[in-house]
Amino acid sequence: MEGLLSDSQPFLPKHSATRRKDEMNRDETLQSEEETTDQDQDTMTREGLDRRNVWEPSVYYALGKESFYFVGQEINIRESTDSYGALIWPGAIALSQFLENNQQQMNLMDKAVLELGAGTGLLSIVASLLGAWVTATDLPDILSNLSFNLRRNTKGRSRYIPQVAALSWGQGLERDFPFPSYDYVLAADVVYHHDFLEELLNTMLHFCRPGRGTTLLWANKVRFQSDLSFTERFKSSFNTTLLAEVPQENVWIYKATAKE
Ligand SMILES: C[S@@+](CC[C@H](N)C(=O)[O-])C[C@H]1O[C@@H](n2cnc3c(N)ncnc32)[C@H](O)[C@@H]1O
Repeated sequence: MEGLLSDSQPFLPKHSATRRKDEMNRDETLQSEEETTDQDQDTMTREGLDRRNVWEPSVYYALGKESFYFVGQEINIRESTDSYGALIWPGAIALSQFLENNQQQMNLMDKAVLELGAGTGLLSIVASLLGAWVTATDLPDILSNLSFNLRRNTKGRSRYIPQVAALSWGQGLERDFPFPSYDYVLAADVVYHHDFLEELLNTMLHFCRPGRGTTLLWANKVRFQSDLSFTERFKSSFNTTLLAEVPQENVWIYKATAKE
């Protein structure tokens, strides 16, 4: 088992979500797009409280933006409260940290990488900063904020401009991605309380086919019995290795390759 986190690398974001605006070093356009008043923030927080389920991440209460430091870069993520894809989940942070700490083992330089359920884009941003040619995918409604975060955090910093594409699990895969040949497929916290686990597994199988040399990296915070059932099906569908776990967060990171 490889170590994922050390005392010097706390799991939580290294910067507060409520940093002063004059510290943010954003350009004027981005700043006006992001500006929220105290009243807006109160409303967002109240709405978050009204809709919170026990299994949702505590970051749900953050005030709309989070800052991280990966690959020598400050990464500022805009969140919103209108869907689960608008929040940063623990799996994305754990897998980002794993990729940064294990660059020799998982060398993303010049590799083709696809992310499933990219949400706010943190993991795709980190992969992009590590030199990968990234395609970040999610449901159509999520793509606007995802594109915004990818652009603001990779422009002038990454080797390749990350791409964004709509991908609803299990739908139109042969049409939209007929010959997948990605080196890595990333998925963080895509298994939670939803009805598309079958479609998700089929999508993973579509992108991780025999003979293509694709490696799937899946990080997930375990919340439900159904998560464990999915894990069992995942393990019987691929050759899998448990790469790391973050016990304090209950996050597991698996590597999977196709069964030949
Ligand atoms: C819990 S969020 C995790 C987001 C991000 N990976 C992270 O860890 O911060 C799950 C993501 O899966 C996406 N998702 C949910 N159902 C989906 C589906 N049927 N097809 C494609 N994406 C889906 C959501 O939009 C969301 O971005």
